[in-house]
Amino acid sequence: MQKILVARPIFPDVIERLEQYFEVDWNNGDVLSNDALLKRLADKDGALTAGDPIGAATLAAAPRLRVVSNMAVGYNNFDMAAFNAANVLGTNTPDVLNEATADFGWALMMATARRVAESEHWLRAGHWKKWAYDSFLGTDVYGSTLGVIGMGRIGQALARRARGFNMQVIYHNRSRVAPHIEAELNAQYVSKEDLLKRADHVVLVLPYSAHSHHTIGAAELALMKPTATLTNIARGGIVDDAALAVALRDKRIAAAGLDVFEGEPSVNPALLTVPNVVLTPHIASATETTRRAMANLAADNLIAGLGEGPRAGRPPNPINPDVIGKARS
Ligand code: GLV
Repeated sequence: MQKILVARPIFPDVIERLEQYFEVDWNNGDVLSNDALLKRLADKDGALTAGDPIGAATLAAAPRLRVVSNMAVGYNNFDMAAFNAANVLGTNTPDVLNEATADFGWALMMATARRVAESEHWLRAGHWKKWAYDSFLGTDVYGSTLGVIGMGRIGQALARRARGFNMQVIYHNRSRVAPHIEAELNAQYVSKEDLLKRADHVVLVLPYSAHSHHTIGAAELALMKPTATLTNIARGGIVDDAALAVALRDKRIAAAGLDVFEGEPSVNPALLTVPNVVLTPHIASATETTRRAMANLAADNLIAGLGEGPRAGRPPNPINPDVIGKARS
């Protein structure tokens, strides 16, 4: 039987599925240190990860490793140049999380615009003595302008929901989406600068890469309206968190909603001191059905990638399909 590492706690019934095909080494505990990960991968043919960094050194230390299946749509934890050089297949879990993640983008944007978390903390702290006309005034969502940066599958699902809120949708993306999608979403392609100047609510839904690092920093925040909100459901590092904390403190923008952070699970301490930010612990895809679908898809990818099961050799979501069938190097 081939050997695999499941690097994180995961639904036990998914482990049982994997055990039908593999000898499973399951880390059902704390996140593995890099050294521990290297040691546990040394004799493995495959691995199921969730954000664990896999680069050239890890692949060199795991000469049998042929497939690494990430339980996430984003795979910036994989060094794909190293995967390609070693003929190791990487897989991810797209699509199954589109709607749950788009729902959460809205939840965070609405909570941010309407100051839900800030007012709830205030109420719990016992400050509520009377109704007041000027309590927690926020920014309108209905009828406002939504600016989506990153118009992939999740960005489109998010923009589709804006119709019910009678919003004008503007977007920026590496490239324009197909005209029929623009028409369906009633979305207008604009430059990043235009989007930042015009949007009432900016939502980030783009993948992290060296190119998207600090897509939003001090200069970009300075372009936004003082009444605008910024929501990041994409990846830490796309926003310069230190610059954002300053902009929030100085009321350069009204508020922000963040589900992802630079260096998470650590959070920049400056963000913890400003009231006008809603902070959540990377839970945008976290519904029972969606996380189950992601875990099962990650298992499907690993099973098929390692040549087992009904789709042997044809994993549903290869990131680098060109390496399929090539000998490990
Ligand atoms: C979660 O962050 C994912 O990339 O799926």
